[in-house]
Amino acid sequence: MLIDRFGRTVDYLRVSVTDRCDLRCNYCIPKGYRQFEARESWLTSHEIIRVIKTFAKLGTHSIRLTGGEPLLRKDIVTLVNRISKINVIRDLTITTNGTQLLKLSKPLYDAGLHRLNVSLDSLKQSCLLKITGTDCLNQILKGLEEAKKIGLSKIRINMVPIPGQNLDDIDQMVQFCIEHNFILCLIEVMPMGKTGQHSKTVNLQPIIRELKEKYKLYPIIDRIGNGPARYWKSSQNTSFKLGLITPLSQHFCETCNRVRLSVDGILYTCLGQNDQMPLRPLLRSHCSDAELEQAITQAILSKPKSHNFLEKPNQINRIMAKTGG
Ligand code: 5AD
Ligand code: SF4
Repeated sequence: MLIDRFGRTVDYLRVSVTDRCDLRCNYCIPKGYRQFEARESWLTSHEIIRVIKTFAKLGTHSIRLTGGEPLLRKDIVTLVNRISKINVIRDLTITTNGTQLLKLSKPLYDAGLHRLNVSLDSLKQSCLLKITGTDCLNQILKGLEEAKKIGLSKIRINMVPIPGQNLDDIDQMVQFCIEHNFILCLIEVMPMGKTGQHSKTVNLQPIIRELKEKYKLYPIIDRIGNGPARYWKSSQNTSFKLGLITPLSQHFCETCNRVRLSVDGILYTCLGQNDQMPLRPLLRSHCSDAELEQAITQAILSKPKSHNFLEKPNQINRIMAKTGG
């Protein structure tokens, strides 16, 4: 088991398989961004599997593949297939922007993917174009339909509400999720990189209060997934579930159970701190399994207590796509 200095068990690894993306969400990747990792620095699928197996040996049973846009990675289906075959991995999920789901839902499902989170900030074509820089709504909607059709259950829509952009679209998104039986998760924008720092922040609490009232929401006690989202259920529409990720207005660091592996093999022990353990040099110098285990255990022991997003909003220069969302 991996247990940190504060008694938190780390049993959840988020793996960024690429830092590239076909979209440019204005709170994430800056337009004209050129600091993508060189291909030679990307962990190979073999290296990724080795790190995951080591984590699995140390008690991890949940893996999320992220990016950038993970479905742009050429060997994504093979990766999913190999990870799903690791016995102790009970939960294998992907966070995607959905643009490739029409083509990849079935291969991913057949390869053993369990669940899916799809980032979608608006159902208005022009608004989504403004946020992402691409006219992608129809492509994403078709992808979502396909994912649902082939049986990927418990699809979660991630929405980052930003004042002046998509705050007024929340109600429409709730209706859409009720209609399609998707979970809706609202996420407060975090000051990651200049893009995150320059975004207008939103305190989700008043919005949450309104939604609780309107949809008669009550908290779900059982956990869904392994992330920080707290979930609410509607007593009107029994199928409707709302997730909330509120790192700023109500942080959840005391129950943090995860670390992140970036595409270039750096283990980040907190999204909102610079603490890191580079694993790539070890992997490429043919380290022993014991050495790899030791490096991971040591990284977990230096996992910070919490982020400082409020106190030091300019501290993190990495954009989300670099760390892995
Ligand atoms: N703050 C909060 N969420 C972000 N994402 C990307 N950048 C940020 C940010 N600065 C989200 C995306 C996606 C997930 C991978 O991370 O919307 O849902
Ligand atoms: Fe791409 Fe996701 Fe970042 Fe948008 S939020 S630019 S879809 S990685």
